Amino acid sequence: MALYANKHPARERAIDKSFEALRDLQAEDPKPQFSFLGEETVYGQLSLRDLRDWEWAARLGDAGVQRLEFEPSVTRDEYEEFLEQVLARLTVAAIDSAEMRTTRPGSIKFGAIGVRGETKQLNDVVEAKVPVATIAFSLQEEAEAVQWMHGQVGERGTLPLAEAEAVVRSLSLAMHGESRMLVPLLELREFDEYTTTHSLNVSVLTMALAERLGLGARDVRTFGVAGLLHDLGKVRVPIEILNKPGKLTDEEREVMQRHPADGARIIITSDRELDLAAAVAYEHHIMIDGGGYPRCHFHRACHPASILVHVCDVYDALRTHRPYRDAWEAARVLGYISERAGTEFDPDIARKFVEMMTELEGRVVRTTQRADTA
Ligand SMILES: [Fe+2]
Ligand SMILES: [Fe+2]
Repeated sequence: MALYANKHPARERAIDKSFEALRDLQAEDPKPQFSFLGEETVYGQLSLRDLRDWEWAARLGDAGVQRLEFEPSVTRDEYEEFLEQVLARLTVAAIDSAEMRTTRPGSIKFGAIGVRGETKQLNDVVEAKVPVATIAFSLQEEAEAVQWMHGQVGERGTLPLAEAEAVVRSLSLAMHGESRMLVPLLELREFDEYTTTHSLNVSVLTMALAERLGLGARDVRTFGVAGLLHDLGKVRVPIEILNKPGKLTDEEREVMQRHPADGARIIITSDRELDLAAAVAYEHHIMIDGGGYPRCHFHRACHPASILVHVCDVYDALRTHRPYRDAWEAARVLGYISERAGTEFDPDIARKFVEMMTELEGRVVRTTQRADTA
């Protein structure tokens, strides 16, 4: 549900399937009750051993859903409404409170244990065992969604915005799944996947930096979408040029340097209110001293989002192994960014970025897109 927009067939199918499972259960137990206590899932009075270490028990508990009861009359619509509310609670850091609906479906009760006069004993259990969500993410689905999105842009020239936004929501969820923020970054496995992994990483880094600068949740997500789409114009650059092991010829470089303008054009003609993402796609290679590309006749300041994305873009590019150069160590990249603060990068933003990456070291989680055993 975090991945697909409302009414998307994949989302509808998932809800149908889940609701069917509930109806099957209700055929035997019309009023099923569940409790999620830390890593423990309790059905009625029964602790479900098979669901030990089921990460969702802890995540539901963290989201304030420690107790869940269904009435026999529950409908598919109410069930969907319930799932949406749980999703909103899980993504609460990413979703403005205004978007959270307060009415609850009448035939589904859920909430924290103890709040509605539950026994003291259960309350103690919860307090003694503060659930810590472990988020075992692979970003596999997000990577697939981005790959699909690039395919759609390449083949049809239109950008599926709803999916882009869903990916950003999902990344934000992965960043905030634990009590402290995480920076989940993907490790490149195959050169072909570069544009996918790079887009996801730039989106995550941009959101982390925007959040650190004190931007509100909505702006952070808007910046995240801009980060995700910054290199969209590369769908028009032939793969031989993108992955060329040596230096580009003048002609090849010219093709490569069209990606900011191409990306901006695709974005602006695709969908509603994407001016910011289009501006970022256009400006993300422009340096603050006016260098870089595309060349402007009159130098003017870039949008702050472009300035953020520029730093994150260079960081991720240099940290990644490419056909024409090895990956750099984090310290070397941060040194490079500091050195070029004031010429290539905005000095303030560069400093904040270096500070953030230094502080967050240890919370940067690198993950490969696929299991090695696959
Ligand atoms: Fe780029
Ligand atoms: Fe880039």
